[in-house]
Amino acid sequence: MQRIGETQKTGQLLNRMFKDKKTQSSKIVIKQMDEISKAELWKIFTRTFFNMYGKKLKQDEDALKNLKVIFYYFLRDEKFFKCKNLRSDITTPSLKKGLLIIGGYGLGKSNYFEVFEKVFQNFPSLRFKFYTSKELVQNYEMCQTPLDKEWFFKDVNRKYMFIDDINSERLASNYGKVDVIEEVLANRYDKKLTTFASCNYTNSDKCAQQTLEDLGLRYGGRIYDRLHEIFNIIEFVGVSYRR
Ligand SMILES: Nc1ncnc2c1ncn2[C@@H]1O[C@H](COP(=O)(O)OP(=O)(O)O)[C@@H](O)[C@H]1O
Ligand SMILES: [Mg+2]
Repeated sequence: MQRIGETQKTGQLLNRMFKDKKTQSSKIVIKQMDEISKAELWKIFTRTFFNMYGKKLKQDEDALKNLKVIFYYFLRDEKFFKCKNLRSDITTPSLKKGLLIIGGYGLGKSNYFEVFEKVFQNFPSLRFKFYTSKELVQNYEMCQTPLDKEWFFKDVNRKYMFIDDINSERLASNYGKVDVIEEVLANRYDKKLTTFASCNYTNSDKCAQQTLEDLGLRYGGRIYDRLHEIFNIIEFVGVSYRR
């Protein structure tokens, strides 16, 4: 038996991770991200993508560009700062901030983060939970008592979380209207928790800067200033895979 935290060879790692595909159970635990190389993470990622969606990950230029910047971020690799689709002109990049993925439809924003969620179940230092913004609105609306609301905010105050498709959700109705994602983001900012999120362009010009402005308007001035502190801005490129 290998001890927890010990670096393992890729083959062993993959075999053990995918030994039991049916239950998707995996006993392997790796403590630190720096114990795994880019190549190892890539193998695990592509294999997990295949297992989850029953098709091979296309590795064209755009897909590689989109994934590279996220890989470097999670691997804490300085090459992150050199990636072209990291919009350092909009916000100052930092490995301490979270990620906001902006881009058109069908580029893999949701699926890639579902895969990362699965992969990082084996990396406690990066484990995160995937929510859609609509799901959070529904969860909030189901809260019937102040205690339920307390539980809701406890749940969304986890160390890392991903919120898919922000700005696509409606306001929550629960004894008055609440902009749940605004509340969640403001709470997480106050508690210095790291947030990953995705969002589609808000404008037909496909302008990331304008999209950020629009998110600021949607969630209020309080959030607009903070968006720059909460997120690195990553712009996904390419043409929809849904065509
Ligand atoms: N690199 C890729 N290789 C193969 N299929 C992909 C790739 N990226 C995305 N897809 C597929 O394209 C579709 C749209 O992906 P999705 O993650 O929903 O996009 P988005 O969230 O950006 O709108 C999904 O069926 C997904 O599996
Ligand atoms: Mg999506």
